[in-house]
Amino acid sequence: MKFGVIGAGQMGGGIAQVAAQSGFDVIVQDVEQEYLDRGRGVIEKSLTKLQEKGKLSDAPAEVLARIKFTTHMQDFADCDLVVEAIVENQAVKNALFEQLGQIVKPSGILASNTSSIPITALASASGRPDRFIGMHFMNPVPLMALVEVIRGYATSDETAQFVTQTAEQMGKTPLTCNDFPGFVSNRILMPMLNEAIQCVMEGVAEPEAIDGIMKLGMNHPMGPLTLADFIGLDTCLSIMEVLHTGLGDDKYRPSPLLRKMVQAGLLGRKSGEGFYKY
Ligand code: CAA
Ligand code: NAD
Repeated sequence: MKFGVIGAGQMGGGIAQVAAQSGFDVIVQDVEQEYLDRGRGVIEKSLTKLQEKGKLSDAPAEVLARIKFTTHMQDFADCDLVVEAIVENQAVKNALFEQLGQIVKPSGILASNTSSIPITALASASGRPDRFIGMHFMNPVPLMALVEVIRGYATSDETAQFVTQTAEQMGKTPLTCNDFPGFVSNRILMPMLNEAIQCVMEGVAEPEAIDGIMKLGMNHPMGPLTLADFIGLDTCLSIMEVLHTGLGDDKYRPSPLLRKMVQAGLLGRKSGEGFYKY
């Protein structure tokens, strides 16, 4: 299987890594060589960590050798599956899928790792809506078991079956849902993170206390503010905007503090500062 990944950020890098760990031939594309180099470095570190813990069957170098890095989208022409993991912005993703739909061989399946953007709209942009699907990995990809599989309006049974089987071959548990704003995962998770941010804004408690209360009180592995920083505050804001627009209810309104922090360039872990400093 030839497995394409677009975007070498935290999600694209993780997806490429796990695909290569599963024995697939992987090709990863990003817009600049420096982003590819950074992604490669993150993958190398993760593979080393997994090897130290005895959780890797092949040597890190062998896994890395299965990943090709490129800045050219034409290199996806003979891919059987391409998973897109670029910025959470519908206009940018639409433009990318319009292009990709003309490059990848007709039998190739296109998937988006979007957190919330309508799969049906991206499928239309791709020009091959029956061979289009949401393949939503969770962060950090090498450690998280779930792949949320989102069927668009025209996704064929064959496409859904292929992607489900591929997720299983990658050692993940696929669970399927239909195409509604935020799907299942972020429709439920993101309002909780947004509410935690609202608590900071209203002075209900300090960030450390909010996270501590949710970690110790609800047995969550990370507090909601730590998790928001980990996901990326820009991504959190985009998801809340999709929920707010798509579902209409004001309970999904993004917290003004979240908006302000993104405007200030405080994006969480990836920018070095969010609710905490990194
Ligand atoms: N690759 C390899 N190893 C990794 C890694 C990676 N990518 N990321 C972390 N690790 C390692 C850590 O370095 C650490 O190693 P040591 O034991 O040697 O220190 C080890 O994994 C375990 O980490 P921790 O001890 O810090 O924490 P943990 O055992 O509790 O597990 C975790 C870490 C799995 C990330 C856990 O904190 C967790 O489940 N957090 C919540 C994650 C979550 O909710 N993800 C979903 C986000 S939402 C989403 O993804 C959808 C969306 O659209 C936004
Ligand atoms: P990120 O900012 O870490 O990485 C995005 C990468 O895409 C960057 O390297 C960027 O250079 C690249 N990129 C941007 N435009 C591109 C283009 N036109 N062509 C090729 N590459 C391009 O973002 P991320 O956190 O990895 O998120 C990526 C996607 O995955 C988003 O849709 C996000 O909603 C989704 N997602 C994120 C998480 C999370 O926790 N961060 C979890 C699940 C899904």
